Amino acid sequence: MTHHRIAVIGGDGIGPEVVDAALGPIEACAAKHRFSLALERLPYGADHYLKTGETLPDDAFRRLRDDVDAIFLGALGDPRIPGNEHARDILLGLRFRLDLYINFRPVVLLHPDLTPLRAVADGRGRTGAGGERLIDFVIFRENTEGLYLAQGRSKGVGTPDEEQIAEDVNTAPKVGRIIRAAFEWAQAHGKARVTMADKSNAIPAHRLWQRLFAEVGVGYEGITGEHYYIDALAMQLIKRPAQFQVIVTNNMFGDILSDLGAALVGGLGIAASANLHPGRPGLFEPVHGSAPRHAGKGDANPVAAILTGALMLEQLGHADAARDLERAVREAIAAGVRTPDIGGNATTTEVARAIAQAL
Ligand code: NAD
Ligand code: IPM
Ligand code: MN
Repeated sequence: MTHHRIAVIGGDGIGPEVVDAALGPIEACAAKHRFSLALERLPYGADHYLKTGETLPDDAFRRLRDDVDAIFLGALGDPRIPGNEHARDILLGLRFRLDLYINFRPVVLLHPDLTPLRAVADGRGRTGAGGERLIDFVIFRENTEGLYLAQGRSKGVGTPDEEQIAEDVNTAPKVGRIIRAAFEWAQAHGKARVTMADKSNAIPAHRLWQRLFAEVGVGYEGITGEHYYIDALAMQLIKRPAQFQVIVTNNMFGDILSDLGAALVGGLGIAASANLHPGRPGLFEPVHGSAPRHAGKGDANPVAAILTGALMLEQLGHADAARDLERAVREAIAAGVRTPDIGGNATTTEVARAIAQAL
């Protein structure tokens, strides 16, 4: 039997609750498909930082880099740390230092009544031959540069003339590899179109995206590359979301589009995400944050974390198990076992239990 070593960081707010709930169905799924997960829980997050001053110590970073097959993380963010420095070290730190350059964020309508878009709920705007899936695309978000490097400078802090300059870093190797990753995935999954979004009409640095998108796209016969400016893409995603299959964009725009995408299909409570570098262990975390107002209430939706677990199982080489777990999620949602954010009255643990049962 295959064993996988998984580091688990619950983190802050609802993070530990959704992670604990999600591990039930994830482990049930592993058992059913005859592999096992050796979980190692790590305490890093706001409480640990406030108690010890430590965000992510070096030895822990080395273990996460060298000794595990995947990292499963809840969320980081706490109102007691308004500067968010622990999340910068742990979450962004892991993305950058492990060079997890693909932030992979699927947007899939799991049940027609989950979308707030009337046209889609009514069945208009279908594109699939059988109309089976109304909204089904993935976002490839660049995860290692852009504005997120926090490079820049400031002057006159606290004065009326304060200046804050944030540099948007776009380099050919990093822009090129995320665009290639999007095309590679499109090809492997039989998709016909890849959409790239930038703001090159206002930000000259983004012309690099245009050039590389055209250059890389030539190598993928049968896949059409199309371009939108990010503002127009945001509009199209609301008007006709079913037209999109694969979207590739920079770190900042990908962050914003992933919450927009989540809202199209039921909200942050169900949106999964994976931070990947092919061939290396990944970092798996839901799109949502620590939702402090929901912490401890028992009403946080564990589906985002469970579907994030499915992405982790897939990356670990268990695609069948991942599909099975996704099927179980769909069944529970269809049966009406839902937390309040998606129109039900079940608790976090009730939803997780129903999904485990459906396995
Ligand atoms: P958030 O995603 O935490 O929550 C926004 C709202 O979405 C919540 O108030 C809630 O109504 C809803 N929501 C989110 N997840 C839900 C779930 N599982 N079940 C039910 N409802 C859910 O975003 P925010 O309020 O902007 O950020 C709160 C904190 O989380 C901040 O500190 C932020 O920096 C951090 N954050 C962390 C991550 C991460 O660790 N990956 C991601 C986003 C935000
Ligand atoms: C996300 C989050 C993070 C990001 C924050 C918490 C730094 O919003 O994972 O989408 O912006 O990447
Ligand atoms: Mn975000």
